[in-house]
Amino acid sequence: MTEQSPALDNLLTESRTFPPSEDFASRANATADWYAKGDEDRDAFWAEQAHRLHWDTEWSQVVDWSDAPFAKWFVGGKLNVAYNCVDRHVEAGHGDQVAIHWVGEPGDTRDLTYADLKREVSKAANALLSLGVSANDRVAIQLQMVPEAIVAMLACARIGALHSVVFGGFSPSALRQRVDDAEAKVVITSDGQYRRGKAAPMKANVDEALEGAESVEKVLVVRRTGDDLDAEVPWTEGRDVWWHELVDGQSEEHTPEAFDSEHPLYILYTSGTTGKPKGILHTSGGYLTQAAYTHNAVFDHKPGEDVYWCTADIGWVTGHSYIVYGPLANRATQVVYEGTPNTPHEGRHWEIVQKYKVSIYYTAPTLIRTFMKWGADIPAKYDLSSLRVLGSVGEPINPEAWMWYRENIGAERCPIVDTWWQTETGAIMISPLPGVTSTKPGSAQRPLPGISAKVVDDKGDEVGKGGGGYLVLDKPWPAMLRGIWGDNERYRDTYWSRFADQGYYFAGDGAKYDADGDVWLLGRVDDVMNISGHRISTTEVESALVSHPTVAEAAVVGATDPTTGQGIVAFVILRGGAEGGGDEAIQELRNHVAKEIGPIAKPRQIMVVPELPKTRSGKIMRRLLRDVAENREVGDVTTLADSSVMDLISSGLKTGG
Ligand code: WTA
Repeated sequence: MTEQSPALDNLLTESRTFPPSEDFASRANATADWYAKGDEDRDAFWAEQAHRLHWDTEWSQVVDWSDAPFAKWFVGGKLNVAYNCVDRHVEAGHGDQVAIHWVGEPGDTRDLTYADLKREVSKAANALLSLGVSANDRVAIQLQMVPEAIVAMLACARIGALHSVVFGGFSPSALRQRVDDAEAKVVITSDGQYRRGKAAPMKANVDEALEGAESVEKVLVVRRTGDDLDAEVPWTEGRDVWWHELVDGQSEEHTPEAFDSEHPLYILYTSGTTGKPKGILHTSGGYLTQAAYTHNAVFDHKPGEDVYWCTADIGWVTGHSYIVYGPLANRATQVVYEGTPNTPHEGRHWEIVQKYKVSIYYTAPTLIRTFMKWGADIPAKYDLSSLRVLGSVGEPINPEAWMWYRENIGAERCPIVDTWWQTETGAIMISPLPGVTSTKPGSAQRPLPGISAKVVDDKGDEVGKGGGGYLVLDKPWPAMLRGIWGDNERYRDTYWSRFADQGYYFAGDGAKYDADGDVWLLGRVDDVMNISGHRISTTEVESALVSHPTVAEAAVVGATDPTTGQGIVAFVILRGGAEGGGDEAIQELRNHVAKEIGPIAKPRQIMVVPELPKTRSGKIMRRLLRDVAENREVGDVTTLADSSVMDLISSGLKTGG
């Protein structure tokens, strides 16, 4: 990558831009001068952001980077994270404001005001204390999207215990691995969860996971599915406690203690390139500062006016930073939905937007493309006029999906913020600012005020406009991970060794600057293909494929090729679930890609498939597709949301030739 690859020149040439409306700009929270402020005096900028929070003790130093890559932010400051997210809003007279409009999958609903939340969190904190949990202990939480999940997280924060939330769909062995690694003392779960209209057991899986788990003393069980669950809820006397039996009877009074700014807040596991998940460690003051700042600036959130909805699951970092900590610190009123987007029908999200007058909607490209597949006539049936800001996160959003989102959900009026960040960064790093930035379909555009990021070549030198390479973060930021739980060496190795000389954090993503200097994310570098010495992003070819009217979704991998090094193999789902894809149609798609990007990007092979293999967080598992493309036996499928997908793909290919 020292030399600019010619292929990168052609990538994502996007000339459409959408400036903010004057009306939006005149009322926007963030203003253009913030960029200069952030550059000129980074410490002063972040100090100002930290004043969004209530500190029991003011800090003496904004950042201490003397022990890099181990950062300390707001050194000497003390605060309570839960107090900041709950109590202070009640004390300021907003106790009656709805914090959470909760919508259950079967259609039951529950509204919690900030006063309700304060009571529930205080009781849960007292309950945890009664179970022997104290500051610095770890509590594992495997819960679906019920209010108790949020209450449990805040209760941990309130008493200084670390939560480790494990996605509800994770297998018993995945849960066990995480419980053991963090040596969790208490596990919080539920009897069962509703999934596509049916009650499925949850506690039974947790029990399977915990067999012989030495650290676990108590299991706290939320009753959710109750009698709807066919199976008996397995119970271990002396260890298991019903949430309602323990929590409901607790005192509503709990005085929050102020903890050090660097007191650990949570561990969240994320998969790395090796088998063992990494326990990403986040701490209190810096994390909450950046979560609150970004939620305010990027979504233009106005407390008491907006209704905010982030569709992520609490099991992922997006749920942590943009359902729990950021929005609640900013006194948001938000929707929390328990179920899947097509239960009981494909208009469920839009029905919810209409009912609660959602004004800020934050979701993932994979879901946007799913909505595209279902058809624009579905959202068209609902009143979406309350929407004013749309967000995207999790993977590069292809311009086609971006435009569909803008036209069919945003009525060509709502700014779209494509937000780049990671579990490790803790909060949004690169994103347009609505009201400031003229947005471009497919580009995350610019590091936020106060944040510094660069695209560099192999040697760590910044590339020029139009150049491509690696995305690095060259300055510490408040919400940055403080390490990998129990493994400082892995922390250094994974993130800080690639550009050790420069002291850059390497994010693992490929990126390029366009002619304006805006950043385009090109996917993980391991997903960048090398065809005849030319680098081509899988994302770019996917984007080209999806821009063809017959294609609903596409995944591209680089398969070993004796002549060209790698050859491009594409898997496509056709619109309307069409089985089709005769030779002629496939030829047309290949030509279409060649036309969009250049002949170098023409896929060697295109296979029409009914589904794509995705992780539970919606990421396409290219590794498995590479196995198919290279005629290997398909590898480990345990992290797939639906493990039968690979059989479906393989059998379809055999019969379909
Ligand atoms: C990818 C999710 C392009 C990226 C918050 C990153 C994105 C990884 C974007 C982190 C985006 C996330 N554009 N790529 N807007 N957002 N990614 O830890 O590859 O689940 O490294 O955090 O997702 O995924 P994670």
